[in-house]
Amino acid sequence: MPLHLVDHPLVHDALAILRDKRTATEQFRQAATRISVLLVAEALRDLPSRPVTVDTPLGPADGSRLASDIVVVPVLRAGLGMLDAVLGLVPSARVGHIGLQRDEITAVASHYYSKLPTSLADSQVVVIDPMLATGGSAIAALDLLQRAGARTIRLVCIVAAPEGVALIAHHHPAVAIYTPAVDRELNAHKFIVPGLGDFGDRLYGTV
Ligand code: PRP
Ligand code: URA
Repeated sequence: MPLHLVDHPLVHDALAILRDKRTATEQFRQAATRISVLLVAEALRDLPSRPVTVDTPLGPADGSRLASDIVVVPVLRAGLGMLDAVLGLVPSARVGHIGLQRDEITAVASHYYSKLPTSLADSQVVVIDPMLATGGSAIAALDLLQRAGARTIRLVCIVAAPEGVALIAHHHPAVAIYTPAVDRELNAHKFIVPGLGDFGDRLYGTV
């Protein structure tokens, strides 16, 4: 299964800020955007492009433009903290939303919303969800996208657990995962350890 461990000093700097329990909401949001730009740029490194020639003020120059439709899918709610970063990089991207909520006791994700763009078969789909813990939410999102016709899917997350990575490898072996960190384990409440706590709560100040 393609697991891409993104290793860059700027990524690790932002990750350390996100992990630090003293980081306040404003700085948490800024670090989330900063790390997401870098992770998504890496995830889109192999995007198809087409050659073009453009006229500069001084004459023709060879270049390339993106050649495929890009669809970004934040998993609500925490995935919204990564969306601005992606739209900054790919302003023309279409956006699908998938709402999933883990039960606080069982940690099983339930689906409460989705709105996806049409014609996903030839799109490059990028799922953004900062935390890959048990993998239940990611599998639900990937299943939905596959049923909607998506064929090329990348998953970008900020912290992963071995359990989540293994579950995706088993159920969606073609999905490439991009993350800077696969942490040690899940605790009894299915939180990633050391992780960074509840991403959505820290992003929105609902702790
Ligand atoms: C978090 C996170 C993932 C999910 C990961 O969302 O953003 O979607 O948990 O856990 P899993 O791999 O065990 O499914 P949560 O359900 O807490 O909702 P929120 O984004 O609304 O905070
Ligand atoms: N969701 C989070 O926000 N954090 C975890 O550690 C696990 C799931």
